[in-house]
Amino acid sequence: MEEIQIIEAKNHVGEIVKIGAWVANKRSSGKIAFLQLRDGTAFFQGVVVKNEVNEETFQLAKSLTQETSIKIIGEIREDARSKFGYEIGIQQIEIIGESHDYPITPKEHGIDFLMDHRHLWLRSTKQQAIMLLRNELIRATYEFFNQEGFIKVDPPILTGSAPEGTTELFSTKYFDEEAYLSQSGQLYMEAAAMAFGKVFSFGPTFRAEKSKTRRHLIEFWMIEPEMAFMHQEESLEIQERYVAFLVQSVLDHCDYALDVLARNKELLAKYTELPFPRITYDDAVQLLIDNGFDDIKWGDDFGAPHETFIANSFEKPVFILNYPKAIKPFYMKPHPTREDVVICADMIAPEGYGEIIGGSERATDYDYVLEQIKNHGLDPEEYSWYLDLRKYGTVPHAGFGLGLERTVTWLSGIEHVREAIPFPRLLNRIYP
Ligand code: 4AD
Ligand code: MG
Repeated sequence: MEEIQIIEAKNHVGEIVKIGAWVANKRSSGKIAFLQLRDGTAFFQGVVVKNEVNEETFQLAKSLTQETSIKIIGEIREDARSKFGYEIGIQQIEIIGESHDYPITPKEHGIDFLMDHRHLWLRSTKQQAIMLLRNELIRATYEFFNQEGFIKVDPPILTGSAPEGTTELFSTKYFDEEAYLSQSGQLYMEAAAMAFGKVFSFGPTFRAEKSKTRRHLIEFWMIEPEMAFMHQEESLEIQERYVAFLVQSVLDHCDYALDVLARNKELLAKYTELPFPRITYDDAVQLLIDNGFDDIKWGDDFGAPHETFIANSFEKPVFILNYPKAIKPFYMKPHPTREDVVICADMIAPEGYGEIIGGSERATDYDYVLEQIKNHGLDPEEYSWYLDLRKYGTVPHAGFGLGLERTVTWLSGIEHVREAIPFPRLLNRIYP
């Protein structure tokens, strides 16, 4: 008899199979026991009928406790009433590992309790759905950039560079030197683009953010594409195609997860329609002022309420273009006719999920980049390798970074970014 995972059920209807699973929940009467099971790939029902099994098996089924691991033998049947669509008519049960007093019961628990038990909370229906969606975004990212002719390059995680400013760095000893955990691989990706044309990275990044918001993680995963011989407008087109591709991939492959999360699929489908709207920073500030925001003026960075208002003024993800130079990193290309703004864009997700992409065209002039490095209080010596890129065949180039967890949060429609990563690192939380 074949041992399967329940996700393959449709190929085994009417067959007797063996499955390893955990008991998520249970209901029983005098004559029948319904086991809510999960095997990692899905949640499904196992039915044990008293007069179809021996007495010992029926008693065992009735005595199973939450999260006991078992192997079951039974027949796969279609089950139109369940979300999953299949159930198993159980004939035999073998206990693999007992479980007593499992802390997460079907009742409601507070968020701190759940976060303390994250290692177990991951087993729940909703958390599984979020992780399935996250997995799809990871898969679709590789598919997209491969089909667009990018190659993946892995920037270092231990680094001496601080592309996004020096205030949020995790520093560590690197033998006798000072090093940081990477806050962005971008500078290395620029070097890689000069070597390989179109490149992308996908890795962990670290920011010692003191902000305790529903959008900030200390450790998060970022996808950072970088393209040689490319200006900002073409980069924006790649960004919107990429995000639309992610949304479509989720719609195509995450039906079950979207149902568990009660996500509106028609709404998501709108986010695949290109192009996405573009608004300049100047116009965005004016839009806010015209709508009664008195806590923003030209030159300020947007806060969450500002981003939410701007996003709600459009029905799709929106690009905000050309922010003030003073609030952006040193590497951005200066505007050709204005001193005060740079050629950059943030993509703001709809429905109040905030910025999911930050990107820009990069400055290519050696003297300008050197001056900016100094203006930002960075040591030109440490960036001499980066300056080399402007010395040996500099070309127009642009790139961007998409935050994986922000995107998972948005597409899942969940409240807080902490549920978008298996083991979130947050201010005041490094366990489990
Ligand atoms: O806008 P950021 O800081 O851009 C960069 O790091 C550029 N070097 C990227 C590039 O051009 N190659 O970060 C990019 C994205 C944000 O839009 C957001 O989605 C995510 O990374 N992000 C965070 N996600 C979770 N928690 C945090 N603390 C984040 N900080 C940024
Ligand atoms: Mg940003």
